[in-house]
Amino acid sequence: MVVWSPLRFNSGQEIANRFVIAPLTTNSSHEDGTATESELEFVRRRAATGFGAVISSATYVEQGGRSWQGTGAAHNGHLSSLRRLAEAMRAAGGLAILQIYDGGRIARPDLIGEQSLRAPSAIASLRPGAKTPRAMTADEVESLIASFREAASLARKAGFDGVEIHGANHYAVHQFFSPRANQRVDHWGGSLARRMNFPLAVAQTVRDALGPKLIARIRITPLEAERDGYTLEDSKLLCDELAKLNLDYISVSLDDYRLSRPTGEARVYDRPVERTNTPAESPITAFARVIAGRCAVMASGGIKTCVDAEGAIKLGADLVAVGRAVVVDPEWLSKVRSKNEASILAGLPKDELQIADALSIPPPMVTYLLSRPGWIPRL
Ligand SMILES: Cc1cc2nc3c(=O)[nH]c(=O)nc-3n(C[C@H](O)[C@H](O)[C@H](O)COP(=O)(O)O)c2cc1C
Repeated sequence: MVVWSPLRFNSGQEIANRFVIAPLTTNSSHEDGTATESELEFVRRRAATGFGAVISSATYVEQGGRSWQGTGAAHNGHLSSLRRLAEAMRAAGGLAILQIYDGGRIARPDLIGEQSLRAPSAIASLRPGAKTPRAMTADEVESLIASFREAASLARKAGFDGVEIHGANHYAVHQFFSPRANQRVDHWGGSLARRMNFPLAVAQTVRDALGPKLIARIRITPLEAERDGYTLEDSKLLCDELAKLNLDYISVSLDDYRLSRPTGEARVYDRPVERTNTPAESPITAFARVIAGRCAVMASGGIKTCVDAEGAIKLGADLVAVGRAVVVDPEWLSKVRSKNEASILAGLPKDELQIADALSIPPPMVTYLLSRPGWIPRL
């Protein structure tokens, strides 16, 4: 079966099987962006089941862009924490990939301190209660690109096998590509071609910082659910340009790999997502066709069984990322491998007190998971 077979990336690195732990924010790092023992244990236990690769939780590149109380790769002070993270992620020898991000307009004011929210344009996110950011100056845009470069260098020094740029889910890279969030009229916005400039500059600088032998990847939301958002046709053009940069894979971020359903920006977790911009073809198939073998394609969203994983591969993916299934059942992959899927835990235990200890989930993460009913299943 393809899912258990190895794959060699453009960088020459090999992944032993096609299962990858999706980036999963635990919201439970120390305030200074260093990893806590409980979040390392969350990762270690799941990685130990033999995933081909493990992607870290979103790790900030600048203090002013923090959307979570997660890990940082913003300065040398983060290096030893990053080393410990890479080690935990390699518990069974899988590839360790650091996901790096900036929150832009969805950074959390309580985390960024005195600094003001900054984003491509002075337009508030659709999230309830969102504050209006100020538009970044051209110098600040250049300096954010340099921060992504610095974070990639730190990842290399810390011993990661590669870096994934978080270009999805309404964070800053996504915002620069979005006509809803980016109404600049300089090099970084004003036309579809110019809205591509920031994602492409970040991808190029990360590739340069890593060198040709480490894995460079980017995660993309393939279209925006909002009526005036970018379409699949737009992101196929971006994907084509990204594929020219010798990346190792492009990851398609969806809630359910079977549906063309990205996460809406104003998402309320106990209601179904309103879909307006839905293309007829699967974004996974569309991206695979545009990429045409120049790099690998990773799918995610709703993968709960081996059949699901094979289904995503049939649509054109080379790899699958697994999120909620592995949050809820740390031994998910072992059960899939031993064909014991009937014993997979289908939801978080009813008794809240059991969740943290039994499943090795840091307590702040338990609180955040339970605040999103309907998104994380409960038994
Ligand atoms: C608790 C939790 C935290 C997440 N954190 C991140 C993150 O840090 N970066 C990211 O790109 N996606 C993040 N996601 C999205 C997942 O990586 C994944 O794309 C999504 O949950 C759909 O896949 P699934 O159905 O297998 O969970 C998170 C999802 C969950 C459930």
